[in-house]
Amino acid sequence: MARSKIVYECSECGYESGKWNGRCPSCGAWNSFEELKQATSAKSGKTRKTADLSDEILELSEIDVNTDVRYKTGIGELDRVLGGGLVKGSIVLLGGAPGIGKSTLLLQICQFLGENYSILYVSGEESARQIKLRAQRLSVDTESLYILTVTDAEAICDTIASSTPDIVIIDSVQTMSIPEITSSPGSITQVRECTNLFMNTAKRLEIPIIVVGHVNKDGAIAGPKVMEHIVDAVLYFEGERNYSFRVLRTVKNRYGSTNEIGVFDMQDKGLREVENPSEMLLSGRPENVSGTCVTCTMEGQRPILTEIQVLAAKSGFSAPRRMSKGFDFNRMTIIIAVLEKRADLFFGTLDVYMNVVGGFRIDETAGDLAVALCLYSSIVDKPVDKKTIAIGEIGLGGEIRAVSNIIQRVREAERMGFSTCIVPKQSLPALRESGVKIRIIGVSDINQAFSFFNRK
Ligand code: TYD
Ligand code: MG
Repeated sequence: MARSKIVYECSECGYESGKWNGRCPSCGAWNSFEELKQATSAKSGKTRKTADLSDEILELSEIDVNTDVRYKTGIGELDRVLGGGLVKGSIVLLGGAPGIGKSTLLLQICQFLGENYSILYVSGEESARQIKLRAQRLSVDTESLYILTVTDAEAICDTIASSTPDIVIIDSVQTMSIPEITSSPGSITQVRECTNLFMNTAKRLEIPIIVVGHVNKDGAIAGPKVMEHIVDAVLYFEGERNYSFRVLRTVKNRYGSTNEIGVFDMQDKGLREVENPSEMLLSGRPENVSGTCVTCTMEGQRPILTEIQVLAAKSGFSAPRRMSKGFDFNRMTIIIAVLEKRADLFFGTLDVYMNVVGGFRIDETAGDLAVALCLYSSIVDKPVDKKTIAIGEIGLGGEIRAVSNIIQRVREAERMGFSTCIVPKQSLPALRESGVKIRIIGVSDINQAFSFFNRK
């Protein structure tokens, strides 16, 4: 027999407790506990009734997979990130900070999808009129786009079941709610239950659903990490609001690789795909200015060239300032410490400001060598040759260590017209074999890299 047990749950982080708390012991939020009724099976000595499901077991070979289950969205960058298109019956979460362009992207794909499929766009954030105005701006005029502006998740699922559109877009999950649940929309319970409801609908009716989720200031999808477990694919739309450059990343994908990114440029008429991100990121480089250097980072399987800039200026404070944008702050301080110890440079009286151009973010260590060259170049006030690129990780001993995919990175530099490539010495044999034509300089520690720089 089922017995009802009362538990309290934090609406911010989902922490469960047997008693009500004024402050959540897990996330520290005040007044966030809400009552949650949970049915638990009574602990009795009764043996569990067993059911024989051996008829339900399937042989792998007899499972039928329809070959035509992916809907192309018409935006190549998005299709690639999805692993070749939107899978029938899947639920995709599109996360991103408010204002980054999620609604814009989804409305844009409606134009192409609308040629063959009917789309239901459920918005809890904007009025039908606002959506129409945006569609006009984006030149979306397909006849098969239907707008619904409600926030009751159950009603939405019933509507989906009765009107059976081919594709559903829900913008956004934080505005949706189930009336029976007392907590407010956007709370962890609501978001989780709504996602579950949408997932069941997607699977049952075999209709793909794209759900928009806002990201809070910590960068996690607001409230629930649980949501990521429920859905089939999680895409993050990232970028700096003040820049037009946007990157779409996969964090999870049950139907494809997570090693893909899509690159977009936000323009006045919506998002434009960027097929050649390196070119875009390198446009407008300053000439003959010290403290800038180009490096190549891998975004999934894609090599992308980006420019790093450093300004080391005399500090007016006793404790000099360090600032970094687009590059890990701690990594930058480590590199500065290594340069002080191993290359006799002194940063104790200098403020150091660092920036990766275009609002781009470098997440890997392959940019270390370029950062070191920027720092050095800024201190001696001599520019790095503008056709030189540096790739390599710096160890605490000042050594330059090998990085993955070096051939791909060097090829990208070659393609973009660079003439010299400074790489870790260990990578030389592989590069020679690969037949790249660009001039390769192998260095084993930072001092070698700096002496090459000084010779030029
Ligand atoms: P939006 O898609 O509403 O963001 P989200 O749904 O992720 O919250 O994007 C809004 C931003 O995009 C807004 O700041 C203006 C900008 N934008 C353009 O620059 N060009 C356009 O054509 C559109 C529609 C929006
Ligand atoms: Mg929006």
